Amino acid sequence: MNPISKIKSEAAPGLTIAQADALTFLDSLSPASVGGLFADPPYSSGGSQRTITTQTGRKYCGSLSRKTLPDFAGETMDQRSNLRFTVSWLSAARRVLEPGGYFGIFCDWRQLPVFTDAVQIAGLHWKGISVWDKTEGVRPQKGAFRHQCEYIVWGTNGQKKPGANRILPGCFRKSNVTRNKLHQTQKPVEVMDWLLSITEDGAPVLDPFMGSGTTGAAALASGRPFFGCELVPEIYKVAEARLTACIGRSQVQACA
Ligand SMILES: C[S@@+](CC[C@H](N)C(=O)[O-])C[C@H]1O[C@@H](n2cnc3c(N)ncnc32)[C@H](O)[C@@H]1O
Repeated sequence: MNPISKIKSEAAPGLTIAQADALTFLDSLSPASVGGLFADPPYSSGGSQRTITTQTGRKYCGSLSRKTLPDFAGETMDQRSNLRFTVSWLSAARRVLEPGGYFGIFCDWRQLPVFTDAVQIAGLHWKGISVWDKTEGVRPQKGAFRHQCEYIVWGTNGQKKPGANRILPGCFRKSNVTRNKLHQTQKPVEVMDWLLSITEDGAPVLDPFMGSGTTGAAALASGRPFFGCELVPEIYKVAEARLTACIGRSQVQACA
């Protein structure tokens, strides 16, 4: 059976999403069919050494979100297996990203070495690290610098396109999502809007780890077609409802 028709869900024009494993989904897409790859994959930070890692709610959430939001997949890898996993999905995604297209992959401080290695092993051009500053709202630790940032390893698939001429700030300050959260580690839609605005107007955007669909919400609000998948059925349903409701809304805030 053709894997595309099996897993592709055409909820609306400009929106191609599936409840699927990232590798299966990526293999179903046409070569060079997107202009931007923006992903917030499972970080697996702390890997298999932390006993709490199978319950992502215990790792990432306060008690309220832990009770109401489903745990997500992919958080039990150690550094080596995460490197292998990241290289394999990035290699598959590189086939789908057009020559000169942009990528931006989120990670935390602990996984930064793994992710910067992975993009290079996968054959992408690593061009920099941008910073999402989550502000002082992030939990403080005595005797430590506050871990208030996440990092975006970014670059292009080969040389950037000759016409690419946007200049964007390298750091974006925006507090974490706290109200009406849809996912345990949901990104603010404004952060995704900042990232994908490096691509050309109208460029199709891909996120193979879409969670609640924040990348898709930012893409649709800015007039960019979106391709995304999510492995956990319960989380996929949340993204599908959110993104279907976003169709035709042109304000990033309206899709938050
Ligand atoms: C860090 S979360 C993304 C959150 C998202 N940025 C948001 O704002 O909601 C990563 C997501 O990738 C999903 N995931 C993990 N492994 C996967 C795989 N192999 N294929 C597809 N999705 C996967 C997890 O279930 C999780 O929902």
